[in-house]
Amino acid sequence: MQHILVTGGTGTLGRLVALRLRDAGCRVRVLSRRSGEAGERIAFVIGDLATGEGIEAAVEGAEIIVHCAGSSKGDEDKALNLVRAASRAVAQHLIYISVVGTDRIAVVSGVDRAMFGYFASKLAAERVVADSGLPWTTLRATQFHDLILMVARQMARLPVIPVPAGFRFQPVDAGEVAARLVELALGTPAGLVPDMAGPKVYGIAELLHGYLRASRRHRPIIPVWLPGKAARAIRAGANLAPGRAVGRRTWEEFLADRVSSLTDSRSSL
Ligand SMILES: NC(=O)c1ccc[n+]([C@@H]2O[C@H](COP(=O)([O-])OP(=O)(O)OC[C@H]3O[C@@H](n4cnc5c(N)ncnc54)[C@H](OP(=O)(O)O)[C@@H]3O)[C@@H](O)[C@H]2O)c1
Repeated sequence: MQHILVTGGTGTLGRLVALRLRDAGCRVRVLSRRSGEAGERIAFVIGDLATGEGIEAAVEGAEIIVHCAGSSKGDEDKALNLVRAASRAVAQHLIYISVVGTDRIAVVSGVDRAMFGYFASKLAAERVVADSGLPWTTLRATQFHDLILMVARQMARLPVIPVPAGFRFQPVDAGEVAARLVELALGTPAGLVPDMAGPKVYGIAELLHGYLRASRRHRPIIPVWLPGKAARAIRAGANLAPGRAVGRRTWEEFLADRVSSLTDSRSSL
């Protein structure tokens, strides 16, 4: 039985990864900053990757580490604290989840950094993983449906919705990404593997219209031009991977499962 640590095992992706690994017969431990239940037959350890607190104990005995913890800032520091501790332990394989476009979305100016610093931070974290000395695998995925839904719900609270002009997305199902990560985690270290993207590319207004339709609401959508090199790269499609549209579940299918006009119209009041 393999001992596996899943960082971020309380998050959208990590929770699904942890459950799948458990169901595959692995001994799973989840790392999180807060105490809580990770799921039946899943151990839980408290630690903070940003400070390094509790990480030694979390990695102890873990042969495989699936690093799903992340936030909008500082993922390179989290990765560094993780690999430092993992290198001193017995880890034989570190799997990292990154985002499509890290290598193409230039984060140069202060404007780029303020709006799209996330991509630079993910690229830096990818390098930390690759230079860790540990056998590694990194998968870049496009945005999860859940993230787009969260943003759509927040935006729909406004009477008029501003959207970045020319932005497109290729949302992918977090469950499908979790399945791929589990496959990678149980395989041999493979370095940077081919990107994983959803089945279809959508304009941002199209995604929002889909959500508004599913929740039976109407809002005007106003395109807003964003300055900077990073925004230009995204307008050019640097966040997409049309040649790797391997995901199956569409945005419409996801919305049909997750959005009801009742719950969503109530949540926007
Ligand atoms: N969402 C997307 O569209 C998308 C697309 C491509 C790649 N990714 C990447 O996939 C990963 C997971 O994304 P997600 O959407 O599932 O994230 P999420 O739902 O926001 O969950 C984030 C997880 O990270 C943990 N975490 C954050 N900061 C931490 C810290 N300092 N120490 C320990 N744990 C910490 C959180 O745990 P606690 O709060 O319990 O401590 C939580 O479990 C991230 O690396 C993200 O960059 C996401």
